[in-house]
Amino acid sequence: MSSQRNRMAAGALAVAAVLLVAADKDLGTGYELENVEVMDKSMRLVDARRYMIEFNDALGVQCRDCHDLRDFADDGKELKLVAREMMKMTRDLNAEWFPDRPEAVTCWTCHQGTRTPPHAAPEPVPTK
Ligand code: HEC
Ligand code: HEC
Repeated sequence: MSSQRNRMAAGALAVAAVLLVAADKDLGTGYELENVEVMDKSMRLVDARRYMIEFNDALGVQCRDCHDLRDFADDGKELKLVAREMMKMTRDLNAEWFPDRPEAVTCWTCHQGTRTPPHAAPEPVPTK
């Protein structure tokens, strides 16, 4: 797994790298997603990135929390593995319970900006 130093350097390069590969795909070089079990392999990289930004927002995390930014196909980070299981759970929830409403359940439905969805309503805030 990458060191602090590597992560900082990679962070600076990540956006440029993603945009470069995305440009490749748009030019029709036949780039395919390499290591996906839920996403469509032939998903355009720009769309994959847009979809992934939803993960960042839904969980309040960054790309680097799940990815080695030099190799997005790498499965070395625990959080990515959990996220893949969550993708399967969300897909199955929609297919089984909301077949007529695609994307009824999303990561945001439960997570709402946090890694750990709340288990109970918050304590009422005392007035005065
Ligand atoms: C919460 C974890 C999580 C976050 C945050 C996240 N990703 Fe992902 N990403 C995944 C998982 C899981 C997969 C594999 C999905 C599958 O198996 O279908 C994936 C796959 C990808 C792939 C496809 C790699 C391949 O196999 O070719 C790309 C590209 C990617 N992510 C980019 C990003 C970018 C850019 C960001 C930030 C904007 C980001 N991801 C944020 C979990 C995450
Ligand atoms: C039905 C509710 C629900 C949905 C939908 C859902 N999650 Fe989760 N997720 C949870 C719960 C509950 C936990 C466990 C939190 C805990 O440990 O208390 C969790 C945990 C996680 C974790 C581990 C967080 C950590 O800090 O270890 C990741 C990563 C994650 N979810 C990603 C996703 C992604 C990505 C999606 C959308 C594809 C998603 N989840 C959709 C309920 C959900």
